[in-house]
Amino acid sequence: MNAEVVASQDDITAEIAALRYPGAADYRRVRDEAQPRLDYPPYRSSALRHPKHRLLFVCPEALERGGPCFGSRDVDPLDADLTAGHPGEPLGERIIVTGRVLDDSGRPVAGQLIEIWQANASGRYRHQLDQHPAPLDPNFVGAGRCLTGPDGSYRFLTIKPGPYPWRNHHNAWRPAHIHFSVFGTAFTQRLVTQMYFPGDPLFDLDPIFQSILDPAARQRLIARYDHDLTQPEYATGYRWDIVVCGARRTWTEDDD
Ligand SMILES: [Fe+2]
Repeated sequence: MNAEVVASQDDITAEIAALRYPGAADYRRVRDEAQPRLDYPPYRSSALRHPKHRLLFVCPEALERGGPCFGSRDVDPLDADLTAGHPGEPLGERIIVTGRVLDDSGRPVAGQLIEIWQANASGRYRHQLDQHPAPLDPNFVGAGRCLTGPDGSYRFLTIKPGPYPWRNHHNAWRPAHIHFSVFGTAFTQRLVTQMYFPGDPLFDLDPIFQSILDPAARQRLIARYDHDLTQPEYATGYRWDIVVCGARRTWTEDDD
């Protein structure tokens, strides 16, 4: 690959297609690829970011001593309302995003710190590195957090983010998404992922979304529109459950 040449969307789409395993004979192989490929050439910067050596097991104690930690008293219920805290209402489609955090046996994971961050309705982040010519919204920062309840549920009120351009290739656009972090019981367990919206026309074109080869796993990243969550003249509703592995011991206030 010549790094000087900027790929077109057609180039990237062809690379994505070449890495897919469409045949039934490959089903088992694909099923083992429920996580994103760390080295996925259509996602250009993964070439420099992915580990090139086998991962090492290390004692997490030193990392945990110096890493961030959160007490439940730090989290205010208003932190889950991304439309609040400004002089006016943010622009865009107000949405409720809710769901449950479950372990791999389907049991609720209570007391989990969920953090989200996202672009505004115009597809722009409030971040110095995002300088593309879409407007910032003075009434929207785009970050929130909450703790899961006893049934593993979380709930955010926010604005539906817009798609945004990025520099992976010429005319590259990310599907609309919300970044999620599930903290786990310690910083070394943190899960970071993205939630998408149903029916996005950019799914097939996006090398980040497509870096997960298992089609069923990709579908699990897409929230479901739920009209029962939608509130008249207020907000539309989306439901998205998060299944985490190794979450048997839940984070509690005792772990301060
Ligand atoms: Fe993003």
